[in-house]
Amino acid sequence: MTIFTQYQYPMKNKIPPFFIGLSLLLSGACTSVATMEVDKQLDYCEAQASRTLRVVPVSDSIPNYIDKDDASWHFTTPGSWTSGFWPGILWYMYEYTRDESWMEAARQATATLIPMTSQPAHSHDSGFITMCSLGNGYRLTGAPEYKDALLNAANHLAELYNPTVGTILSWPGMVARENWPHNTIIDNMMNLELLLWAAKNGGEKRLYDIAVKHAETTMEHGFRPDGSTYHVAVYDTITGNFIKGVTHQGLSDESLWARGQTWAIYGYTMMYRETGDIKFLDFARKVADVYLSRLPEDLVPYWDFKALELGSNEPRDASAAAIAASGLLELSTYISDASQAAVYRNKAEQMLQVLSSEKYQSRNHNTAFLLHSVGHMPRRKEVDASIIYADYYYMEALIRLKRLQ
Ligand code: GLY
Repeated sequence: MTIFTQYQYPMKNKIPPFFIGLSLLLSGACTSVATMEVDKQLDYCEAQASRTLRVVPVSDSIPNYIDKDDASWHFTTPGSWTSGFWPGILWYMYEYTRDESWMEAARQATATLIPMTSQPAHSHDSGFITMCSLGNGYRLTGAPEYKDALLNAANHLAELYNPTVGTILSWPGMVARENWPHNTIIDNMMNLELLLWAAKNGGEKRLYDIAVKHAETTMEHGFRPDGSTYHVAVYDTITGNFIKGVTHQGLSDESLWARGQTWAIYGYTMMYRETGDIKFLDFARKVADVYLSRLPEDLVPYWDFKALELGSNEPRDASAAAIAASGLLELSTYISDASQAAVYRNKAEQMLQVLSSEKYQSRNHNTAFLLHSVGHMPRRKEVDASIIYADYYYMEALIRLKRLQ
C-alpha cells in the first residue's frame, strides 16, 4: 500500500533522483507502449474526487461503492474492510497536488479510523484499513498519533496468528459458520505489510517473523502447483495441517478468482520489497505469469477466470486490473534483466491505458474513477459496480507510473 519507498516530495513538479535513474534504466525497454498521459488521468481523478467530497455527508460516512447504472455512493463506516480506501485516496490526492485542502480532508477521514486500532482485530482486514489511511498519512506527515495507532493495530492483528499453522486467522467469523477451523485467505497477504512496517518502526521483531512465516506457509498451501491461488486455505488448528483449498468469492473451489490472484501478485512483491528474500520475488513472478497468461485481450479479467463458462456476458473486474497494474509496476523495478522487467511494466501500462478509456472510466456516469468491478459475485453484491478499492489502486498505480516515467 505504500509506494515502494519513503520519499516525500511534491509530485506535480519534482521527481527524485532514484526514480530518474530507474526510469533511464527501463526506458529503452519500454518503447513498445505509447507513453501514458499520467497527469491527465490523475487530474481526472482529482476532479472526480472533488465531486465525491462534496457529497460525503458526515465525516465517518466513507464512500464505498456505486451500483451499476446508479450515480449515488453507498457509504460504509469505520472498521469495515473497505473503510481505509477513501482516506487513502485523499492522501494520494494530497501527495499528487500538495494542496493543503486535500490534506485536511485526508486528516478528517483518517481520524475516524483511529479508535478501532485500540480494539482487538475482528479480522485480518485491519491491515488494509490502517495502511491505506494511517500508513499513507504517516508516510506523508510523520504524525506521531498515526504511528502509535499503526503499532497498536499491528499488535492486535498479530493476536490472530496461530503458530501451529503458521498463518493469521483471516476470518474468525467463518470458523463456525463455514466449519473452517483456521482459515487464511489470499487477500491476507496484503495485510502483512502492517506487521512488517511495525517491526521496522519500533514494534517487536516477532511481527516481522509472523509476516514471513505467514507468507511462506501460504506459498506452500494456498496455491495449486501451477501458481494459481485458492481463495481460502483451511487448516486444522490443533495439528496445523492443511485440510483443503476452497473459494468464497470465486466461481468454484477449483476456479481462479481474479482479484485473489492480484492480491497474490501485489502481496509477494511487497514481501520481496520488505525482506529482500529472493524466493518471494521468484514467487511473485510465478503468480504474475499465471495471471498474465490467462487474461483476455483487453487485459481486464472476468471476475473469475472460469466465468466465461457461464457465458460471455459475465462482468469484468476492473479492481483486479488496477491492483495488478500497481503490483506489476513495482515488480518490474526489482527485475535486473531489462527485457523481462519491461514485460511487466508494459503490461501494467497497457492495463492502465485500458482502465483510462471511456469504457472503464466513470466520467459520464458517476463520481468514482472507474466502472465495472465486482465485489462479491456469489452473494450478488457490487456486481459490475464502481468500487472504492478499484479507485484506490488505480490512483496508486498512476502515481507509481508517474514516478517511473
Ligand atoms: N478482501 C476482500 C475482497 O477482495 O473482496
